[in-house]
Amino acid sequence: PATGVTVTKIGGRIGARIDGVRLAGDLTPETVATIRSAILEHKVVFFRGQNHLDDEGQIAFAELLGPLTTAHPTVNTGSARVLALAANKGMAANSWHTDVTFVDRVPAFSVLRGVAIPAYGGTTNWANTVTAYETLPAPLKALVDNLWALHTNDYDYAAQSEKAEQEHDRENVFSRKEFTKVLFQTEHPVVRVHPETGERSLVLGHFVKSFVGLNSAESHNLFQLLQARVTKLENTVRWTWAEGDVAIWDNRATQHYAVADFDEQYREVRRITVAGDVPVSIDG
Ligand code: SIN
Repeated sequence: PATGVTVTKIGGRIGARIDGVRLAGDLTPETVATIRSAILEHKVVFFRGQNHLDDEGQIAFAELLGPLTTAHPTVNTGSARVLALAANKGMAANSWHTDVTFVDRVPAFSVLRGVAIPAYGGTTNWANTVTAYETLPAPLKALVDNLWALHTNDYDYAAQSEKAEQEHDRENVFSRKEFTKVLFQTEHPVVRVHPETGERSLVLGHFVKSFVGLNSAESHNLFQLLQARVTKLENTVRWTWAEGDVAIWDNRATQHYAVADFDEQYREVRRITVAGDVPVSIDG
């Protein structure tokens, strides 16, 4: 690592804490390279005590990892680059997902900053989708290696009752109407080859609507089976936020889940997203 920077593993399969870096400072190319390789190796990394960061500082840091993408493909965030996830009703992105897999070019990295953190609850969990693939038994690997999935932002709550929709709106940061005002549908390989590490990872999460060639019941069953592998607790890491913490994850090698257990307390995290590319299957 760069001088003065330490990277400490915090989970067996995923997660590391990085100390000795001030993200809004003038970072040397060595420090940026250390951070990037730690993200690629550990899939999600955490920094404590970055309270000096504001939106501009967070944007400037994220740009060191690559060109940014829009804050969100459908939700009006009031900012071109910053997605503010603010809630005081226990609302959160509380199901396992990889960010915006319903677009062609799945983002590469997300940089999330803890701005207002409740006294309890509101942790975020990440799962390693590379080890989830690597630890599949051979017959399941053979099954997924040639499988494609249809991802959409109009995912499993499609065609539900008004009551279910209201329930969704109560429990989620964004209303369904806002989230689906432009509809996206994209097919991705279930197994992608990571463009930087060459590792294979499972591309799943809650935007998957079905698998190509399977009906909806079969898709549902197979999805449950594979997701259970991804989200097995040994394959995850859980972060208890403090204000000024920053988490950076490789969106090509993880899923995450923000726990909606903070009652009426106010929680605000702000996300900047680094652009990625179209997932490539093992056949190229
Ligand atoms: C997200 O899905 O990017 C939000 C994570 C969080 O609120 O902790």
